[in-house]
Amino acid sequence: MSRNMIAGNWKMNTLPSEGTELAQAVIAANSKPNCKVVFGVPAVQLAQIKELTSKHDNYFVAAQNCHHEDSGAYTGEISAPMLADLGIDYVILGHSERRDYFGENDELIAKKVRKVLDNGMLPIYCCGEKLDVREAGNHEVLVGQQIKTALFDLSAEDFGKVVIAYEPVWAIGTGVTASPEQAQDMHAYIREIISVQYGKEVAARTTILYGGSMKPANAADLIAKPDVDGGLVGGASLKAELFKDIVAAG
Ligand code: 13P
Repeated sequence: MSRNMIAGNWKMNTLPSEGTELAQAVIAANSKPNCKVVFGVPAVQLAQIKELTSKHDNYFVAAQNCHHEDSGAYTGEISAPMLADLGIDYVILGHSERRDYFGENDELIAKKVRKVLDNGMLPIYCCGEKLDVREAGNHEVLVGQQIKTALFDLSAEDFGKVVIAYEPVWAIGTGVTASPEQAQDMHAYIREIISVQYGKEVAARTTILYGGSMKPANAADLIAKPDVDGGLVGGASLKAELFKDIVAAG
C-alpha cells in the first residue's frame, strides 16, 4: 500500500460558506487520486467536509488540534471523543504554530496523541526546527528529541498509525522551501530513528510528510525523494487550482 499522502492545512482560513466549494473543486480535478488526500479544516467545518469526503475514496478530513482530556470544564476546547463522534479521520497535532502561540510542548502533545489513538483516529504529528537551530547544525538532534518524547512511548502497533510531518519552521509561510536534499536528509534520519526503535518494517511503512512552502512548482521534486512520502501544505491548500496540482504530484 502506498505511503503517500497530500494533506492541506487550512489553518484559521476559509469560511464555512467557502470550504465545501474549495474541497469539491479539488476532488473534481482529482476524482481518483494516487495518494490519500486530507483536508485539515477549521473545527466549524469538520462536519460539512466529512460529509463530502465520505463520498469519495482516498479523501479524508483532519482536525487541526484537540484537547488532551475527554471532557470537562475547558471552555472553548474540543475533545478527541467529539471529533471521533463526527467521524473525523486524522488530527494534526503539535504544529509549530500551536507550539509557538499556544505554548504546547512535547509532553502535552504526547497526551493528545494518546487520546487521538484511543478514540480510533490517526495523528499527524508535526515536528521541525527553527532557523537558529538549523544554522547551529542541531536540527537532527532537536527533531529526534521531539519525536522521541512525543511518540516513542507508543507500542509498535500504535506507532504504526502515526503520520509524521517534518515542517522546518523557517520554511512555513516564508516562501523558502527546504531543498529536496535537505528534506530527504531529515526524512532519512527520522526513518532511521524509527527503525532503531521499532524495526525496519515499521520504519518502511511510516508515512513522513514534508511541510513548508510546498507548491506545484516544487512538490514533484520533493516527493520524488525516496523518504518523502507527500506533503502537509498550508498556503497552497487554500487555492483549488494550486492544491489540485500538488495532489496530482502525490
Ligand atoms: P505553508 O505551506 O503555508 O508554508 O505552511 C505549511 C504548514 O504549516 C502546513 O502545516
